[in-house]
Amino acid sequence: MEQNHDKLRPRPVSDSKSEMIELVLPNDTNPLGALLGGRLMHWIDLAGALAAHRHSHSHTVTASMDHIDFLVPVHVGDMVILQSAVNRAFNTSMEVGVRVVVENYITGSHQKVASAYLTFVAVDRHGRRLKVPPVIPETEEEKRRYDGALRRREASKAERERRKAARGEE
Ligand SMILES: CC(C)(COP(=O)(O)OP(=O)(O)OC[C@H]1O[C@@H](n2cnc3c(N)ncnc32)[C@H](O)[C@@H]1OP(=O)(O)O)[C@@H](O)C(=O)NCCC(=O)NCCS
Repeated sequence: MEQNHDKLRPRPVSDSKSEMIELVLPNDTNPLGALLGGRLMHWIDLAGALAAHRHSHSHTVTASMDHIDFLVPVHVGDMVILQSAVNRAFNTSMEVGVRVVVENYITGSHQKVASAYLTFVAVDRHGRRLKVPPVIPETEEEKRRYDGALRRREASKAERERRKAARGEE
């Protein structure tokens, strides 16, 4: 397993914080001019990958994306801001949180559109898994997300095991 020890130096959450801004164009929308859910999920995946790359300093693959609720409709011409950061790193995987807001650039107001947790796995150029550095949570909010990430990992592992067992019974 290819490893570079400096790459495994623990990193604060602030090192991985990323922001991606998209202007919603007609090709991103349905015939009523509302942003397609699939397009938003694609942007969430990209915004999450930015944070995962910055934390791990490596290539990554998306292992999973959790449940997403689309809270408000987004329209053609809106500005969508996607903010991401690594909440916690494990062995080869990282949980990334992505928060999506829509900005009304006329009034300057922001409204939450969606949020999601994704898991990325670090890989080398041959697709072999790589160890990732630990995350150092600094603020109270970062510590809350860090603790939550372990609970979510355990819950999703248990759910994967349950589904595997259910498929075995079919
Ligand atoms: C994600 C992937 C690398 C996991 O490989 P695997 O052989 O199942 O590896 P393991 O079961 O040993 O798990 C490796 C790590 O991934 C995590 N993981 C695996 N499946 C996961 C899932 N569904 N959700 C969240 N984490 C997952 C494990 O918890 C483990 O984390 P750790 O090393 O930090 O403890 C592999 O399934 C893969 O390559 N999937 C395709 C990824 C891809 O192409 N994504 C783009 C979408 S098309």
